[in-house]
Amino acid sequence: MVIRSALLNVMMAAARKAARSLLRDYGEVENLQVSRKGPADFVSSADLKAEKTLRAELKKARPGFGFLLEEGGEVAGDDKSQRWIIDPIDGTTNFLHGIPNFCISIALERDGELVAGVVYQPLGDEMFHAEKGAGAFLNERRLRVSARRKLEDTLIATGIPFHGRPGHEVFLKELAAVMPTVAGIRRFGSAALDLAYVAAGRCDGYWEAGIKPWDIAAGVVLVRESGGYVTDYDGGSRMLDTGEIVAANDHLHQSLLRLLKTARA
Ligand code: IPD
Ligand code: CA
Repeated sequence: MVIRSALLNVMMAAARKAARSLLRDYGEVENLQVSRKGPADFVSSADLKAEKTLRAELKKARPGFGFLLEEGGEVAGDDKSQRWIIDPIDGTTNFLHGIPNFCISIALERDGELVAGVVYQPLGDEMFHAEKGAGAFLNERRLRVSARRKLEDTLIATGIPFHGRPGHEVFLKELAAVMPTVAGIRRFGSAALDLAYVAAGRCDGYWEAGIKPWDIAAGVVLVRESGGYVTDYDGGSRMLDTGEIVAANDHLHQSLLRLLKTARA
C-alpha cells in the first residue's frame, strides 16, 4: 500500500470527482456523434463543467492557491507562491470523436517549480501521480522510464500541429529526421498522457512544439520522478515558456534532442 501525501490525495480526489461528469458526458458524446447537431458545443460544456469541479474542489482544500486553467486562464490566489495548472480534458479532439484517449491533468507549481502532478485517464481508471522527491506511480505501481538504449528499438510519441496552429513545415522536418531512426512513432492526441506513457516506460520518448503549460505541467513531474529527462529544445527547463518539450530516458534524451536540432537547423 503506497502512502501518499495529503497534497496528492487532494489532487487525486479532485480528478476523480471531475471524472464522474466527464464519463457521463463521454457516454453522451458517443451518441451525439451521429446526430446532425454534432457534439462540439456539448464537449466544450463538458470541458467547462470539469474545470469548474476541479477549481471548486482544489479551492476548498487549499483556499489560498492561484490557478492557471485552460479555459479560465490565470486566477491569482492570496498565496502568490503556489498555483494549480489544470487541463480539464487533455485530448479534447479524441473526446469529441468518441476516442477514449483523454485525461484530466493537474499540476502544482510552487515558487516557479513544478512539485506535483496527477494525470487521470478515467476510462481505463489509470491514475498517474508524482510528487517531487517521492517517485511516480500508476495507481499503486511505482513507475520507471524505459531502459532502451538504441533509438532503432524505440517507440516515440509526438504531437502534430493542426488547423490554426503554426509549425507545420518544421514538424515535417522533425518527423523526417526521427522517422527513419526509430521503431515507431505514435500520435495519441493527449500530451499529458504521452508524458505519462514515457514515465511508465510504455513509450521511450516524446517531443512536441507549440504546446501549452496545462498540457505538460503534470507530465513533466511524472517523467522526472520516474527517472527520465525532460527539457526544452535547448536542453534547458523552460518548457512551460517556450512550449517546446523533449522527454525520454537518460540514454535517449540527448540523441532525440540532437535529431530535432539538426532537423530545425
Ligand atoms: C492538445 C493535446 C494534443 C497536443 C495539442 C494539445 P487539448 O490538448 O494535448 O496531444 O498535440 O497540442 O493542444 O486541446 O486536447 O486539450
Ligand atoms: Ca490540452
